[in-house]
Amino acid sequence: MRIMYVCLGNICRSPIARSVGQYICDERNLDWVIDSCGTAAYHSGENMDHRSADVLAKHGLDNSHSAKQLQKSDFETFDFIVCMDRSNINNAKRIRGRTRSQAQLVLLGDYDPEEPGSEVPDPYYGGKRGFDLVYEQITRCIKSFYDSITE
Ligand code: 4NP
Repeated sequence: MRIMYVCLGNICRSPIARSVGQYICDERNLDWVIDSCGTAAYHSGENMDHRSADVLAKHGLDNSHSAKQLQKSDFETFDFIVCMDRSNINNAKRIRGRTRSQAQLVLLGDYDPEEPGSEVPDPYYGGKRGFDLVYEQITRCIKSFYDSITE
């Protein structure tokens, strides 16, 4: 399975999703490809936001990163393109274009066991607590997303 986590800037939410998603794969012995990107290129090549890096470090998870933008070709090489919010889905559709693609484009919050259909809010302009909440939400969603793939 190949899974691409997507947000807008690829410096706050999807880097957390990649790291958590990789950790849960390792825990479950799943040999999957896990990656992340943003629909925008504003931060390409940058490290993740220090608040995302801090949350991951606090939980003992990898926080190395180099931001990149979603490419049309990702729709051919990934099985799932997993977005944090609905605007990410709309932007991803624009990058995909009209060509048929094998990747399934999904909202991570559709797998939220507490609040199905929820969006992972952009924490960029808020405080540190927003990053803790995003971490918790992403973690419970990814567990149930992986359950749904493997069951
Ligand atoms: P992300 O958060 O999509 O979770 O990485 C954002 C980071 C930066 C910006 C927007 C969202 N920005 O406008 O620079």
